[in-house]
Amino acid sequence: MRISAWSLRLTVLSLGQWFRNSLMREQLEEIRERALAELGDDAGDAQIEAVRVRVLGRSGELTGIMRRMREAPPEERPAIGRLVNEIKDQLEARIAALVEIRKREAMARSLNAAALDVTLPGARIARGSLHPVTLSRERMLDIFAAMGFEIIDTQDVEDDFHNFGALNFPADHPAREMQDTFFLPGGMLLRTHTSNGQIRVMERRRPPLAVVCPGNCYRRDELSVRASPMFSQIEGFMVDRAGAVTMAHLKGVLTEFLRAFFGSDTGVRFRASFFPFTEPSAEVDISCLLCKGAGCRVCKQSGWTEILGSGMIHPNVLRAVGYDPKEYQGFAFGMGVERTSLLRLGVDDLRLFFENDLRFLEQFRSASEGAL
Ligand code: DAH
Repeated sequence: MRISAWSLRLTVLSLGQWFRNSLMREQLEEIRERALAELGDDAGDAQIEAVRVRVLGRSGELTGIMRRMREAPPEERPAIGRLVNEIKDQLEARIAALVEIRKREAMARSLNAAALDVTLPGARIARGSLHPVTLSRERMLDIFAAMGFEIIDTQDVEDDFHNFGALNFPADHPAREMQDTFFLPGGMLLRTHTSNGQIRVMERRRPPLAVVCPGNCYRRDELSVRASPMFSQIEGFMVDRAGAVTMAHLKGVLTEFLRAFFGSDTGVRFRASFFPFTEPSAEVDISCLLCKGAGCRVCKQSGWTEILGSGMIHPNVLRAVGYDPKEYQGFAFGMGVERTSLLRLGVDDLRLFFENDLRFLEQFRSASEGAL
């Protein structure tokens, strides 16, 4: 067969092209092989990323081949293009799979490191409880509220008139001396009892009144088994038209209160006494909670314990708040909350109430929760 110069030229040309085409395919296969070798099962994040940038990146190897596509004869270009795409898809899939595996491994590592046991019970948050004195005060107030008494707070910082003068304390009364009362600058003082509540409330209200005033009181006493420079009291009073509220009501209300608070079998006794702000005055005793009246060391063999002070409001006190004693009449009483709690809870040292020792306070936790 005779080979014409033309056909020879064509053959040589296509041979050259065939050579270039096969070189492109070869190069592509090389790129694929190398990349797959580098994307082995142990390839780390940095290596995966390096391969991705080098092969698939914007100026990466595959883009380089695509740019040189002109060098291939037109009929070959689709096949080379397909090969480029095939390699691209294959490498992308491999990279995605590897990235997924690495992500799972990282997750497993961090879960193991935290070693979180979701079945463990949660940590208990320590809950506080109400102070035993608070509990007692709330119970006392509840009993009075059930009898129809209003609960009104009054002030701790007072003037002489509301703490002493209006309550008929004479000018030379020992309670007005420096050794008993905390005086403040400007003629003020810390109230020595909650009886100022009577004056504060009656000054701004008109009878009929049935009120209890709880609050803190202050006296210059050393903290001891029996006394504290700060303690709390509940003051109570009932005032109405003359003749409507008598000593009999005083006895009835206080007996009812004491039996509700200490127990229905508690003995209650009224003893004549003296307070400047009441006339007549009575101290109230309850039968000793320890010996039930038989006589023991705590009640000094008497069978009785003093629990509160009371009386018919003195006409001078009524006058001081602008009431006419011929028109109005009433009774009043006052008691120490710590002292009363002490007796009821069987606590033998007042200081325990102020020390905030959790071993002591936690004994009243269940009572506190019952109260909530
Ligand atoms: N204020 C008295 C005290 O601090 C207690 C008291 C006694 C209050 C008799 C009263 C009362 O209202 O009538 O010891």
